[in-house]
Amino acid sequence: MPGLAEVRLHLAEEVLPLWHAVQVETRDEDAALPYWAFAWAGGLAIGQYLREHPEAVAGRRVFDLGSGSGLCAIAARRAGATNVIAADIDPFAAAAIELNARANGSRVSVVSRDVLDEEPPEVDVILAGDCWYEAGFAERVLPWLRRAQAAGIETLLGDPGRRYLPIDGLTELAAYEVRTTTELEDLRLKQGRVYALGAAPGFESQSSR
Ligand SMILES: C[S@@+](CC[C@H](N)C(=O)[O-])C[C@H]1O[C@@H](n2cnc3c(N)ncnc32)[C@H](O)[C@@H]1O
Repeated sequence: MPGLAEVRLHLAEEVLPLWHAVQVETRDEDAALPYWAFAWAGGLAIGQYLREHPEAVAGRRVFDLGSGSGLCAIAARRAGATNVIAADIDPFAAAAIELNARANGSRVSVVSRDVLDEEPPEVDVILAGDCWYEAGFAERVLPWLRRAQAAGIETLLGDPGRRYLPIDGLTELAAYEVRTTTELEDLRLKQGRVYALGAAPGFESQSSR
């Protein structure tokens, strides 16, 4: 991965042919885009943050919400997380996460159901990389993360300035220029920011690059 040389992912070059293949395979014209076949700017920012601050997850139990390719989950494992669960509602994502975890020699458990109506999991840290690209998902994620925070779970959010993430009440921990794909984004280089909910005693605040 650009900027994350230690993480290896199977990724797509183009979105439309793969989306077409998904539509054919599922016999569903409205099948979700293959988000899992790309490394998103928010997830790349979290990956870089964990590389610079492994202490944020080292020796801890981590839950990666909206895991997609498994990028943040794998980065957490590489940073020393003891247990990592990757959650994504897209069944193709589950396969991609397993494949990518194997390519990195990383052990990651996968959850394919929608957990946002459940109590937050029993973990120490929740990662949410690029979960604010669409209104319906975005408006469910923050309340759930707030419940997790109230239960004592630390949260790390990664986002490149999408309109559905209100940043009031978030603590910015770091900003990175990340290289993503114009298949999904207007620009190849994006400013990916990493935030914690509220004050973040466990995370070291800084801005780099
Ligand atoms: C933009 S992608 C980000 C993937 C990855 N975190 C990254 O940064 O590369 C968002 C992912 O969230 C997943 N997603 C959407 N709604 C979800 C939900 N309710 N629970 C879990 N995952 C969800 C999508 O399937 C998609 O894979």
